[in-house]
Amino acid sequence: MCGIIGCVGVRDSMGRLITGLENLEYRGYDSAGVAIQNGKGVEVYKRSGRVDELKKATPDKHAEIGIGHTRWSTHGPPTDDNAHPHTSTKEDVAVVHNGIIENYSDLRHKLEAKGHEFTSDTDTEVIPHLVQDFLDEGKDPETAFRETIKMLEGSYAIGCIVDNHGAVMATRQGSPLVLGVDDDAFYLASDVPAFLDYTDRVMYLEDGDVAIIRKGDLQLSDIEGVTVDRDVETVDWDPSETGKGSYDHYMLKEINTQPTALSNTIQGRADVENGQVNLEEFPPGTFEDIDSIHLVACGTSYHAAMYGSNMLSEGGVATTAFRASEYELHTNTIDENTLVIAVTQSGETADTLGAMRTAKEKGAEVVAVTNVVGSTAAREADQPLYIRAGPEIGVAATKTFSSQVVSLTMLSQRILDDLERGTPRGDMPEFLESLQRLPDDIERVLEHDDAKNIARRYSDAKSYFFIGRGTANAVALEGALKFKEITYEHAEGFAAGELKHGPLALITDRTPVFAVFTGDEEQDKKTLTNAQEAQTRGAPIIAIAPKDHPSLEFADEHLEVPSTNSAWAGLLANVQLQLVSYYAADQLSRPIDKPRNLAKSVTVE
Ligand code: M6R
Repeated sequence: MCGIIGCVGVRDSMGRLITGLENLEYRGYDSAGVAIQNGKGVEVYKRSGRVDELKKATPDKHAEIGIGHTRWSTHGPPTDDNAHPHTSTKEDVAVVHNGIIENYSDLRHKLEAKGHEFTSDTDTEVIPHLVQDFLDEGKDPETAFRETIKMLEGSYAIGCIVDNHGAVMATRQGSPLVLGVDDDAFYLASDVPAFLDYTDRVMYLEDGDVAIIRKGDLQLSDIEGVTVDRDVETVDWDPSETGKGSYDHYMLKEINTQPTALSNTIQGRADVENGQVNLEEFPPGTFEDIDSIHLVACGTSYHAAMYGSNMLSEGGVATTAFRASEYELHTNTIDENTLVIAVTQSGETADTLGAMRTAKEKGAEVVAVTNVVGSTAAREADQPLYIRAGPEIGVAATKTFSSQVVSLTMLSQRILDDLERGTPRGDMPEFLESLQRLPDDIERVLEHDDAKNIARRYSDAKSYFFIGRGTANAVALEGALKFKEITYEHAEGFAAGELKHGPLALITDRTPVFAVFTGDEEQDKKTLTNAQEAQTRGAPIIAIAPKDHPSLEFADEHLEVPSTNSAWAGLLANVQLQLVSYYAADQLSRPIDKPRNLAKSVTVE
């Protein structure tokens, strides 16, 4: 949700800022801008719309110091005026900001009373005016920046330049900020892909850190100026992973690279020989004091959490998946023997972080299942479990859902192994072998082009329904979310048994029903009955099931998946549904990687 960048030390900082913004555009794409110092004020270029628009408006200038921003609007519509960077009245302070300044209205009134003139509707604009105000009092730029931060309430990652100062100043509180360290340059950004083309050495800042970055010099301190040390880590992401390659969209690339992503997720964790799951983060005994388990997450990650909670519940452990934004209402059910598993691809989702913090206050043990090493969730959890899916750029989550589901299923097995009351799996060898086969099974799904044909055949439908039971219910909800997110068409996911309690009223011959089957005979029989109830009322039925499945006798269409252990059947079906959504959106010429009104990382509540 908004991406910020800064660059110090190379002559073509401007070019690197723009490239960085292109790589951060998944965080927001309502408007974009950059600011550089030139000794006569700061020079700002900004435009509503995509980074491409900014590129056209930016002269080919050399600058060794600059900051940039790509916006997901919170305060004020996406106009040129509301685009960042924002400047002070004298235009010699420029600021980029990700987050929300909660007390901005109060600050703005006070500054206006002192004669400051505001030109935007944003909360951010108070920051350059405050810095200017302290400069006018005679403070040096660094003191003015620190004094400004002390006045802010809310969440923020900020980059700030002051004309003639020769540095980028930065800080964070509740929003991500990472520094890139190169031989000749320093970068700051909301996320690593912004500068991964230039360096893989990173420093993750903590809340309250203040960075003063000059050519050849980096000073890190706390708000009072006391020096702090942060380790330089090397990230193992390959820069080519952040490009689209030969694919038309990141989403298609990310769907197609699921076999590789999953191989990484599983590597070293499925011990077929000894019949167990090994997670080095969680040695045997880690979970033996756990009474109950909560999973907290949003959006696609919530659907992965639902999927994961099934296995724990089936294994006899009290488990509930909560939408993170609703968790506050359930705090009375948390205690020291509750394990709270936060599921978040980015590790920066505000609602999920809020739920984690609530759980920690109540004394619960918190595990974060996340993709981003060093993310806030990873750092605030008692222990992170990395899903190792590699960078995901498309706003629609695809490969990370698969890696979350597999990670959660492995984690569930580790938990059940620790709890005497858990019901042991009767099919452990087959479960582990099919886990290892998963990347190949997904490869087989990707070889079909049935999804493309079905997306085309039903392109004039009025509404799209997705149904399933158990893990397939989670997949049905996920299938519908993906479909509506990128096609802008109406789609709904239901527990199959719920159709008859209301939604059947909407069924016509223009509401195709995607029925997801898991291979569990009893569940599938019921799902088939529910699908037939819709079919009787005119709905075309698309069965997602292995060949020879009983549903195929009745289904109008078939999306085939390889036959596997029921733990993974939903995951394979989900890949088919990802493809259906992708091709339906492509047919409608939607901006698939950047659906309107959305952003990849949602850092506001
Ligand atoms: O980074 P997170 O996994 O915490 O993000 C949660 C949701 O915002 C995210 O899954 C969203 O629903 C997806 N972009 C949908 O495809």
